[in-house]
Amino acid sequence: MERIKVISPATSANLGPGYDIFGLALSEPYDIITLSRSEEGIVISVRGEGADRIPREVDKNTAGVVAREMIKDFNIEGGVKIEIHKGIRPGSGLGSSAASSAGVAFAMNELFDLKLSKLELVKYAALGESISAGFPHADNVAPAIYGGFTMVINYNPLEVLHVPVDFKMLVALPDIEVSTKKARDILPDKIPLTSMVNNVGKACGMVYSLFKGDIELFGRCMMGDRVVEPHRAQLIPGYKEVKEKLKDLVYGITISGSGPGVIIIPREGEVPKIEKIVDKVWGCPLYCTKVGPGIQVLEGD
Ligand code: HSE
Repeated sequence: MERIKVISPATSANLGPGYDIFGLALSEPYDIITLSRSEEGIVISVRGEGADRIPREVDKNTAGVVAREMIKDFNIEGGVKIEIHKGIRPGSGLGSSAASSAGVAFAMNELFDLKLSKLELVKYAALGESISAGFPHADNVAPAIYGGFTMVINYNPLEVLHVPVDFKMLVALPDIEVSTKKARDILPDKIPLTSMVNNVGKACGMVYSLFKGDIELFGRCMMGDRVVEPHRAQLIPGYKEVKEKLKDLVYGITISGSGPGVIIIPREGEVPKIEKIVDKVWGCPLYCTKVGPGIQVLEGD
């Protein structure tokens, strides 16, 4: 194969109580990544949403770092040209950097026929996350690669569990900038035992709900995080107001990843009312999306 084009989707990490553990692949938005063999080196080009804010230097680009490490580890001769068309706004909390790094890990595996497992691809893709977040968190790259709902149940060694699920969601994207690094730095190093008990309980409720198909339980538990969201809410002006005003219209609402994106599971027939409230507080669009299948090959030749 000389060239491959893939769709790499947005993802929503944490989902309330599952900080650095839970993640969901979305069907939209997504990046389109084209990888081609070249004589030598790694050349990166980026266009689309927020492209001007993305570094092209290999060592500073999440996708570049992934390609560099894979070329080194597998003694790949020659180089690659990486073309990224961003559909996911950088710094949105929708796994924009993860889409690029997971997309490149996946495409490298196909292009050079490396025969790596999904788990191995997650490991490589997570390396890219260190660049933007300061920690190789895998809760965005895992759902990008597996699709559906994923749980990173261990980091060293990495262990990922996958549950295929299917439901609709809304994503509000306020015009606020939140850096993942800053959103991680404001979190406390230590938490009370009672908060830990609360979050583990809610996380268990969410996983149970997936097997029972109980979206009401999923959403209720998703809103019960007492560890991360209370700190991060202050980085998103209007978040507490929107959450309060939507409480009877949704099954669940929470900050997507490190924000400012907000993920909302609407109750039937309530989308128009939700839209009005989101528009009044943030004046931002509300996207309809659903759980997606993860990275897909568009073309390969
Ligand atoms: N788990 C990560 C965090 C996701 O919340 O910092 C970042 O999108």
